[in-house]
Amino acid sequence: MFDVDRVMALLPMRVRNQLESYVDSASTLLEVRDPRVLQAIGPSAVRGTILKRGKQGVPTAMPARHHAWFDWTYPADQPAMAELYSRAKRGQWNGDDLPWATSVDPESDDRPLLPDDMLAWDKVNDFGIRLSVAERRVVRHSVAAWMLSQFLHGEQGALFAAAQVTEAVQFFDGKLYGATQVVDEGRHVEVFHRYLDTKLQKLYQVNDNLFVIIDALMTDARWDMKFLGMQIMVEGVALGAFSLLYRETREPLLKELLKNVIQDEARHVHYGVLALREHVLTELDERDRREREDWAFEVALLMRNRFLAYEVYEEHFEGRLTRAQWREVVGSSPGMERFRHLMFGRMVPNLREIGLLSDRIRPHYARVGLDKYFGGVAADQLTGEQMLRELDQGRTEIERRAAAA
Ligand SMILES: [Fe+2]
Ligand SMILES: [Fe+2]
Repeated sequence: MFDVDRVMALLPMRVRNQLESYVDSASTLLEVRDPRVLQAIGPSAVRGTILKRGKQGVPTAMPARHHAWFDWTYPADQPAMAELYSRAKRGQWNGDDLPWATSVDPESDDRPLLPDDMLAWDKVNDFGIRLSVAERRVVRHSVAAWMLSQFLHGEQGALFAAAQVTEAVQFFDGKLYGATQVVDEGRHVEVFHRYLDTKLQKLYQVNDNLFVIIDALMTDARWDMKFLGMQIMVEGVALGAFSLLYRETREPLLKELLKNVIQDEARHVHYGVLALREHVLTELDERDRREREDWAFEVALLMRNRFLAYEVYEEHFEGRLTRAQWREVVGSSPGMERFRHLMFGRMVPNLREIGLLSDRIRPHYARVGLDKYFGGVAADQLTGEQMLRELDQGRTEIERRAAAA
């Protein structure tokens, strides 16, 4: 029988790494089993993972195809969105007011940026690589800069998606609310960029898989797909990651920054739930609803499996570990496990709330171990303050239940 691993082992390391990275990109697509989903994501995947458009060092143009929806009668049509708009106006803050004078040492052991267990160090050891304490600090700095860089790139995507959605949405109160989200996302770009630039002095390029998702959303003509992708899926991942970092970083400036950002993001996801619930319930026929349901499930899986900091791997471990070994180092770490709980614990109940977790799809979630999140609280029942309070108390309800399951 043809043994891929044995053939790979015979190749020179450089060829092997290149080959592995192509196989990896292809397998991202092969994981998607639904042809309609594949058709929607395919062209973006080529642009992101094969052509690497996000890594050319030049601006990327993404053609937008949606309609801007005007309403000259200015209806007060969605009281819950109007309420969110008013809360958003009161919740504005100025990025300049964060304690920027704080001195940040990205390699500090006293005030580490990240929990140490974001990587499974014992696995690194098992694979025959001995790292000194100083080398571990350098890698930890890289992982932190990588994560925050992806947040920054995601925020740029969120900024433009929020602007598109503000044009394309048909709820008038939603448009006014959307204007505040555009400002919020602009501020997030500002503060993450400033933090990376002045404190960590390191910026990573956009991760290929993140590029694929952003590209797919920006170029999809259907406003509700943009919404689902950005407000529920991407914001869901972001909230999971921000929550983990807010709770576990010991660096005070980053903690304060995240505390502010989380409160904005909680509103964004709340808005996503309001708008999509209305739309799925009243506008979509069963065929279209199912397409969204399948799409959300596939994207959830991609998000779970694909944010593995390969850019850090290439910098520190290429030639010393295989990509498969690196996947284990990141994917099986305790920190990653906590991140997945926080992320899916928020995302899955939101999907339920907007009508995309029917009895038809539930067994698929159960098959990959995500059924433990079915009963959680959705974003329309939770404010940013409540979320922060829960994180301040340590292990969240979601994590306790997941641990008991
Ligand atoms: Fe944001
Ligand atoms: Fe957001």
